[in-house]
Amino acid sequence: MQRTVTTAKAIRGTLGVSANKSISHRAAILNAIADGEAIIEDFQRGADCLATISCLRRLGATCRWRGDSALVVKGLGSQGLREPSSVLDARNSGTTMRLLTGLVAAQPFLSVINGDASLRMRPMGRIVEPLRKMGADITGRDGGRLAPLVIRGGPLRGIHYRMPAASAQVKSALLLAGLYAEGETVIEEPAPTRDHTERMLRKMGADLQFGEGAVIRIRPRTRELEAMSLRVPGDISSAAPWLVLASAHPDAAIQIVDVGVNPTRTGILDCLTLMGADIRLENERLWGAEPVANIAVRSSQLRGITIGGDLVPRSIDELPLLALAGCFAQGETVIKDAAELAVKESNRIRTTVEGLRALGANLEEREDGFRVWGPQKLRGAVVSSHGDHRLAMLLAVAGALSQGETVVVQAESVSISYPRFWLDLDGVRRP
Ligand code: S3P
Repeated sequence: MQRTVTTAKAIRGTLGVSANKSISHRAAILNAIADGEAIIEDFQRGADCLATISCLRRLGATCRWRGDSALVVKGLGSQGLREPSSVLDARNSGTTMRLLTGLVAAQPFLSVINGDASLRMRPMGRIVEPLRKMGADITGRDGGRLAPLVIRGGPLRGIHYRMPAASAQVKSALLLAGLYAEGETVIEEPAPTRDHTERMLRKMGADLQFGEGAVIRIRPRTRELEAMSLRVPGDISSAAPWLVLASAHPDAAIQIVDVGVNPTRTGILDCLTLMGADIRLENERLWGAEPVANIAVRSSQLRGITIGGDLVPRSIDELPLLALAGCFAQGETVIKDAAELAVKESNRIRTTVEGLRALGANLEEREDGFRVWGPQKLRGAVVSSHGDHRLAMLLAVAGALSQGETVVVQAESVSISYPRFWLDLDGVRRP
């Protein structure tokens, strides 16, 4: 499917974005191994989270829909999962594959987990290696570095693991394995990454401690996790295209309601604010373990900045959008320390540079990020998402900021995380 986007004359409106994908995955997985029934309101219905649900069902969990968007998960308890009779298919979802591998590594049965062509190219050694140190028996293509993975579950032991790269998926896989391991598991992150798993585990009664710096200790459960009902906030990664669109557009004023503003996720707000954006948080409150706010954003004159270090894991999925913001900012924008972008759903350094260059942008592809000179004028062209949902949204927003007509090829990939994206774009864009 392809979509045509023309220049937006103005950007207006109030919208609620797709629910948080990371929280939805974790709420389904943790409640599936908890004691009791949980109602997860506003569970994200994108393809990634649906892949997690279908894997959990294969593992014996009962997940059913109540109304349009509430998912009811009946916990099986820590020992209730059963051997899947078929392959677990994570499709395009790295979170599904990595978190579930950590979980099934500790179960007394065999699991095989696979994904689509993109996921089969993404690095799995980062979870396989520490899980093997915990005693897990995992094989896979290329010595266990690539899916499909075959996991002969069994008893695990706690380890002290210093993660070489910042990754919430690796951390969460090890926390899930650590729940079942003998002895304590200690995880040291090079920089703090999203902590949704930790917040949820704590609320559900897991024995989790935080040490100096980004150190997390988990002890094996002595009692079952308690089921936790929750309402999933909007995903700041799905709010991000609108934040950049409104900040860079000369005539914009929008409000995005009920967005999760967990500080491990708000790097995009900090970066845009440093660039001079006009962003205000309103009605800040807590939904269960997670902070939520409405975000008001208006047109602004952006200026270039350098983004690196601890800001990178806090804005990892939004960095390509910040490169787009750089095209409309005065001066140079540098995004560094972000080599991880090359191993996302697409090589996001390359696909972002290729897409934005097709629209006439002047930017440099670097091994660990981008260099952009602004301000520039973009003009419409035919561009492809390469099947990457975040790229489809970036190109759509770039199209609305360009002169003339932009055609986004493989536009349907937005359904991975934000099925209503194109409707919402029509909603805020004044032609
Ligand atoms: C995610 C973590 C991030 C992010 C991904 C979702 C998660 O990946 O890019 O979209 O839900 O844990 P890393 O684990 O590589 O940081």
